[in-house]
Amino acid sequence: MNPLSRPLPVSEFPRSFASALSNLTAWLDELEDSNRVTAPPTSSDSTLLDALLIDIWLAGGTPGAPGLARASPEQSRFRAEAGPRFWRSAVLRRCWEKPRGYAGDFLMMEALYRRTPTGDTPMERWLDAWALELPGFQAVRNRRDLLSGMLLAEHARGARRVMNVASGSAPELVAVAREVSFERVTLLDQDQGALDAALTHFTRVGALPATRHDALRLWCGSVLELLRKRSELSPASQDFIYSIGLYDYLTERFAHNLTAKLWAGVAPGGLLVLGNFNAHNPMRHFTESALDWYLIYRDPEDLLRLVEGLPGVAEAQVRTEDTGCLHLLVARKAG
Ligand SMILES: C[S@@+](CC[C@H](N)C(=O)[O-])C[C@H]1O[C@@H](n2cnc3c(N)ncnc32)[C@H](O)[C@@H]1O
Repeated sequence: MNPLSRPLPVSEFPRSFASALSNLTAWLDELEDSNRVTAPPTSSDSTLLDALLIDIWLAGGTPGAPGLARASPEQSRFRAEAGPRFWRSAVLRRCWEKPRGYAGDFLMMEALYRRTPTGDTPMERWLDAWALELPGFQAVRNRRDLLSGMLLAEHARGARRVMNVASGSAPELVAVAREVSFERVTLLDQDQGALDAALTHFTRVGALPATRHDALRLWCGSVLELLRKRSELSPASQDFIYSIGLYDYLTERFAHNLTAKLWAGVAPGGLLVLGNFNAHNPMRHFTESALDWYLIYRDPEDLLRLVEGLPGVAEAQVRTEDTGCLHLLVARKAG
């Protein structure tokens, strides 16, 4: 039986968890009945909702370790009672339902980038507006913007061959496509729909005149194949390789092997950039408990270890975007 369908009775929960949860659901119901829901979330309502959630993570966790343990009765109960209220937000519902088999599909990512709340009712739109401003989602937008800046900077340094691994619809490249022209752009993603969307976006911004069509390589496949078929990524064939939104799913061993493979593909003087959420990000408990979306988190030292010992590392540093939710490993190969 699905644990969601049989939450424990109230009396079996520590009182503070049960009351924290009922405070949250009562507040959401009160909001829905109020006029406030017809306008975008005010900062006081957003702050209050954040605080109500923090109460739940504190009450449902252990001292020093807030959050609801995976598959715990508290988490099941949270999902049964609070879940359906949050999933009225279109973006949160997509994360929860995972219609393409995983949470961060390109359509969900595009919703984050568009940042336009949708919904049929005021409450649906309110929740979507609130969700789109969550720190982890802002971090994704910040990451895109940082990458766009790096693309411009690397182009100015002479980079002409770029590869985006687990590209989605490549919004950071689309954003700069009118400003800079790379000779060769390789997008690798397991989802053909994401690659089709990227092509549509490049065409829409006028970045793909017919004569330059061959400059774009759309490579539908898994990074697993990249590791197995050694010929697919020629050594030193790229000036800039980056991957954002993939390493959060890779185990240590896989991440190491893939990093070595990508590093070999970077030409002398080139750049490798890898993004990863960290475990301290304030959205973590919500993502795990409300959305059943678990990531493999990395701190700066974990990211730096990925390039430790690789040949020709001239410089490796970690940058953190403004919300503090995620890091970017930035490694330069000796020229
Ligand atoms: C969170 S999205 C990030 C997309 C894009 N980099 C962005 O930041 O908008 C993750 C992407 O990784 C792709 N992906 C997941 N696992 C993959 C794998 N094993 N090989 C290739 N692509 C993968 C998914 O199809 C999806 O487009």
